[in-house]
Amino acid sequence: MDGDRAVDDGRTPTLDAPPVRLRAWRPDDAHVVVEASQDPLIPLVTTVPRTADPCAVDAYVARQRRRLADGVGYSFVVATADDDHAVGQLSVLLRDADHGRVSIGYWVAASRRRRGYAGAALRVAADWALGLPGIQRADLFVEPWNEGSWRAAERAGFVREGLLRGWQRVGGERRDMYVYGRLID
Ligand SMILES: CC(C)(COP(=O)(O)OP(=O)(O)OC[C@H]1O[C@@H](n2cnc3c(N)ncnc32)[C@H](O)[C@@H]1OP(=O)(O)O)[C@@H](O)C(=O)NCCC(=O)NCCS
Repeated sequence: MDGDRAVDDGRTPTLDAPPVRLRAWRPDDAHVVVEASQDPLIPLVTTVPRTADPCAVDAYVARQRRRLADGVGYSFVVATADDDHAVGQLSVLLRDADHGRVSIGYWVAASRRRRGYAGAALRVAADWALGLPGIQRADLFVEPWNEGSWRAAERAGFVREGLLRGWQRVGGERRDMYVYGRLID
C-alpha cells in the first residue's frame, strides 16, 4: 500500500448531527468493517469484503480514505456523536456531479441498528451535499423489501419517485429498486 495515498486528504468534513457524527475514516475504525463483513447483504452491495481477514479489512479502510483523491466521492464513517465509535458508513458519490447530482449509499452495523443512526446520517449528509457547488439533487436506490432503508430515506426528507425494474445486480440477480430523491430547497 502506498503510504501517502493511504492518508485522508483532509477535505472530508466532520458533520455533527446527534446521535451521529459523520467524519473521515481512521485505521482504528476497522472493527466496524469486520462486523459488516459478516452481514448477509452489505458485502453484496458494497466493496466491504466477505471476509474478516485483517488485510482485506485494512485495504477497505485505506480505499475509503482515498475515495476523494480518486475522484469517486466522499466516504464517511458514521460514528456515535457521544463517543465517536464507528457504527457504519455513508458515501456521497460524485460520478454525476457534472449533471448536478450526487448519489448516496450507506450501511449500519447489525449490532447498532434501529437507533435512528441511518436516518440522522442521511439527513445531515443530504443537507450538506445539497450545499456543494452546483449540486441540486441527491438520490438513492433501495430494494422494496428493505423497509429499514426506505424508512430512513423518508425520515431524511427523500421522496419515493418510482420503481426501477431490474436496476441493479445483487448477488448475481437483477433486482428492482425504488428510486428516492431529495432536491435543493
Ligand atoms: C437499512 C439500514 C441502513 C437502516 O439503518 P438503521 O440505523 O437501523 O436505521 P434507523 O434506525 O435510522 O431507522 C430508520 C427507520 O426505519 C425503521 N426500521 C429500521 N430497521 C427496520 C426494519 N428492519 N424493518 C422495518 N423498519 C425498520 C426504523 O424504525 C425507523 O423508522 P421511523 O423513521 O419510522 O422511526 C441498516 O439496516 C443496514 O445497514 N442494512 C444493511 C445494508 C443496507 O440495507 N443498506 C442500505 C442499502 S439501500
